[in-house]
Amino acid sequence: MASSTALISDTEAWKDLKGHVEDIKKTHLRDLMTDANRCQSMMMEFDGLLLDYSRQRATVETVDKLLNLAKAAQLTEKISRMFNGEHINSTENRSVLHVALRAPKDAVIKADGKNVVPEVWNVLDKIKEFSEKIRSGSWVGATGKPLKDVIAIGIGGSFLGPLFVHTALQTDPEALESAKGRQLRFLANIDPVDVARNINGLNPETTLVVVVSKTFTTAETMLNARTLREWITAALGASAVAKHMVAVSTNLALVEKFGIDPNNAFAFWDWVGGRYSVCSAVGVLPLSLQYGFSVVEKFLKGASSIDQHFQSTPIEKNIPVLLGLLSVWNVSFLGYPARAILPYSQALEKFAPHIQQVSMESNGKGVSIDGLPLPFETGEIDFGEPGTNGQHSFYQLIHQGRVIPCDFIGIVKSQQPVYLKGEVVSNHDELMSNFFAQPDALAYGKTPEQLQKENVSENLIPHKTFSGNRPSLSLLLPELTAYNVGQLLAIYEHRVAVQGFVWGINSFDQWGVELGKVLATQVRKQLHSSRTQGTALEGFNYSTTTLLKRYLETSSEPQM
Ligand code: F6P
Repeated sequence: MASSTALISDTEAWKDLKGHVEDIKKTHLRDLMTDANRCQSMMMEFDGLLLDYSRQRATVETVDKLLNLAKAAQLTEKISRMFNGEHINSTENRSVLHVALRAPKDAVIKADGKNVVPEVWNVLDKIKEFSEKIRSGSWVGATGKPLKDVIAIGIGGSFLGPLFVHTALQTDPEALESAKGRQLRFLANIDPVDVARNINGLNPETTLVVVVSKTFTTAETMLNARTLREWITAALGASAVAKHMVAVSTNLALVEKFGIDPNNAFAFWDWVGGRYSVCSAVGVLPLSLQYGFSVVEKFLKGASSIDQHFQSTPIEKNIPVLLGLLSVWNVSFLGYPARAILPYSQALEKFAPHIQQVSMESNGKGVSIDGLPLPFETGEIDFGEPGTNGQHSFYQLIHQGRVIPCDFIGIVKSQQPVYLKGEVVSNHDELMSNFFAQPDALAYGKTPEQLQKENVSENLIPHKTFSGNRPSLSLLLPELTAYNVGQLLAIYEHRVAVQGFVWGINSFDQWGVELGKVLATQVRKQLHSSRTQGTALEGFNYSTTTLLKRYLETSSEPQM
C-alpha cells in the first residue's frame, strides 16, 4: 500500500505496468479483437448504457494490473472519503460533494458533521417555485411584461456545464416543448462583442439576467454583470434591477452589495467546485427557467444513478473507475498525451468543451497532493467535436498521424429522427454508420498487402496505408433525454476524479489559473494610468512594453 506521502510511481503495481508496456507493444488491435472472450470481458452495462473498451490497447492482464494499481492508490478508500465529506481538497481545506447536489431528498451526506441534503433541496425547491413564477408569467418585469428571455452571465464552471446541458436538451422533444417561446443565452467572455451578441434582438423589458459566480469576484463576470445592469437601468430605471436581475453564488454578501435582492439569490456551497457545479443552482436555475424544473430534475436523477453506481460497485465492474484507469494507462504508460471526445450527436456539441475544463483544470497538475514534484505527467489534452463533423476536420491526424485515444459516444434513438423515402437508411442510421465504422478503421487500419490486392499503384501505397492499432472506446446511450445527459456528465466527472486519485494529485483545486489573473491586474492598472494621466509604461519586459505601446498608441478605446 502507498503511504499518503509516497508517489504512486514508486509502487510495485506501477512498476509492474511499466514492464507490461513491452508486452502490449508486441500486440496489435487487429489480433486482440479476434479474441471474443477478451472482447466480452471488456463490455460493461449499467442502467441502459453500454460501454465497450475492447479497442483499448489492453489485454485482460492489463486490466488486472490496472486494478492492482487502483488498490495501491487506495482508490476505493479515496472514493469513500469523497462521499463521506472529508476535506479531500486539502489545499483549500474543503469537502468535495457535488454528488450531494443530485442526491435523493432522503439521502444523508455530511460535510463537517452536518447533513447537507436538506439545504440542497431547500435551494432546489426555491428554484422550482421561482422558475414556475417566471415561466407562468406571475412574476413580471418592471413594465408589467412577462420575462421570456434569460441571459446567464458566468464563465468557466459557471458557464460551460450549463451550456453543455442546455445544448443537449434543446432538441429533446420534451424539453423542446417546455421551452416554447423562451430563449436562454450565455454571456461568458469579457470581450464586449459577447455582450453585443447576447443582447442583440432582446428587450430589457422581457429579459431576466442571472449572474452566476461562485465567488462573485471573477473579473469577467462582474464587469459583464455591471454592463447588463447598465443595459437594464438605462432602459427601465434603477429600480428595475430587483425584477430583472437574480444571482447564483456562494457569496451572498457580495450579491447584496452588487444590488441584487438577497431574496433573489440562489445559494450553493464551498464544497462544490466550480467545474463540478452544473448540478447546483449554477445550472439548475437557468435550465429550469428554460425547460421547467421537472425536466431538470430528470437530469439530476440520471447523474445520481451514476453516483450510486460509482460509490457502491466493485472496481472491476465500475464504469467510471474502469474509464479512469484506462485513461491513466494511456497517458502514463502508453505515453499518449491527448484524448478525443467524439459524440456522434450534434446535441452533444458542447460536451467536449465542458469536459475540457472538468478534466484539464482538475488533472493538469505538476505536484502530488502532498506537494511533491511528480516524475510523470498528469492530465491529458482533451478536445473534440461531434461526429461526423470531426471526420472532415482532424480525423486525418488521428488515423495516420499521431495516436490519440478516442471516446466514441453514440445514441441509439435520435432526438429528431428523419427518414426520407427512397434513401438507403434513415438520417440517424447514416450518422451511426460512421459511429460504428470509425473505431474499427482506427483499430485495424489497412495494410500494404490489402492495398496491393486492390491494385493500388505502388507510389500511393505508403500514403494509403493505415497502421491501425489506435485505441478507442465506445459508449452507447439508449437515447439522449435529460436523464441520459445527467448520466453522461457524472460518468466523466467521476472518471476524472479516478484519474486524479490514482495519480495522487488534488483534482479539486486550480492554483494554475491564478498567476495570469494577477498579471492582468498589473496591466489593467497601467492601462488606466496611461489613458487617464499619460503615465509611461513601467515594470514590463521589452516584449510586453512594445506590444502595450502599440496598443495604446493605435487603439481607439475611449480615454477615461
Ligand atoms: O478559471 C478559474 C475559475 O476559478 C474556475 O475554476 C471557475 O469555474 C471560474 O473561474 C469561474 O469562477 P466563479 O464561478 O467564481 O465566477
